Amino acid sequence: MSATSQATTDAPNNNTIFMVWNFKAGASTDTIKSAFQTVCALVKNLNNSAAVRFPDKRVSCVMGIGYEAWKTLNLQTPHPKELTNFTPIKGAKHEAVSTPGDLHFHLRGDHFSICYDMANAIHDVLKDVANCTEEIHGFRYWDGRSILGFVDGTENPQGDKRDFFGKVGKDDADYEGGSYLFVQKYVHNMDAWNELPPKEQENVIGRSREQDIEMSDEVKPKNSHSALANVGDDKKIVRDNMPFVNTTTKEVGTYFIAYASTFSTVQKMLEAMFIGIPTGNYDRILDFSTARTGSLFFVPTLDMLDDFSG
Ligand code: HEM
Repeated sequence: MSATSQATTDAPNNNTIFMVWNFKAGASTDTIKSAFQTVCALVKNLNNSAAVRFPDKRVSCVMGIGYEAWKTLNLQTPHPKELTNFTPIKGAKHEAVSTPGDLHFHLRGDHFSICYDMANAIHDVLKDVANCTEEIHGFRYWDGRSILGFVDGTENPQGDKRDFFGKVGKDDADYEGGSYLFVQKYVHNMDAWNELPPKEQENVIGRSREQDIEMSDEVKPKNSHSALANVGDDKKIVRDNMPFVNTTTKEVGTYFIAYASTFSTVQKMLEAMFIGIPTGNYDRILDFSTARTGSLFFVPTLDMLDDFSG
């Protein structure tokens, strides 16, 4: 990659803050543009500072920009080929909803402290021109498990393949090194999930729970998550999901986050999960998981952030 990318393909860390921001209807375009310039510079500053202060801790701040924001901010045209507003995907039983998102921040740290400090610095810059409409505090659950108890991320691309599948290549030369970022906040029905016998839970995911071994094609149910989400070895994405919990309100969920060289791959996975293959054979994980949000962003390279920061 010729341009320097944001930390899109870094491995998950122990703590994360995810934030979705939407520009205020009453804010003038000039004030929005000015805050945006400042936040672009801030993102670079936060990453550089963390690299000096905590060199081995894999701290990062990644910013994505939604389609509406791209237009409001009058950023370069033509815009990234596949950047649009996400269109909802409605299956017979479950729906991948679409919710607004102008800016997305993905803050990773080994300690929560650094995530908190970075989030605060972003709040200071954006608070007058935008509202933070979603803030999720994700954490590493045991040995990288989703809150459903299964290891999450095993089939992610590894090594050089992360860049290949996670970043735009030469086919969209103006945006090479950037990434499509798709996020969804899922809330789980933990009571229903916990009532399922362990063997049935394994049938939902398509893997063993303790050992995290994939079922063979002969025994893996056709409506399992790993059967439907796998849309081909040449079509992968880099997932960085994190669990989040509130034991009192019982809002327990998974923040799904994917970086991809092309959004159409994510779209294909979502269609397989929500509509099903064949139609009606939808992903059984959705009987225990409701998508509350869904937004598409583009993550520019650090070089582009430099340009945007004026
Ligand atoms: C309810 C939220 C979700 C949870 C809890 C979840 C959890 C998991 C788990 C435990 C695995 C198996 C281990 C692994 O390879 O990572 C997995 C695999 C996978 N998931 Fe998800 N996932 C969720 C949503 C999604 C969505 C929305 C997509 C795509 C749009 C997706 C795409 C994938 C893919 C591509 C795999 C690998 C399949 C394979 O090649 O075997 N997941 N997920």
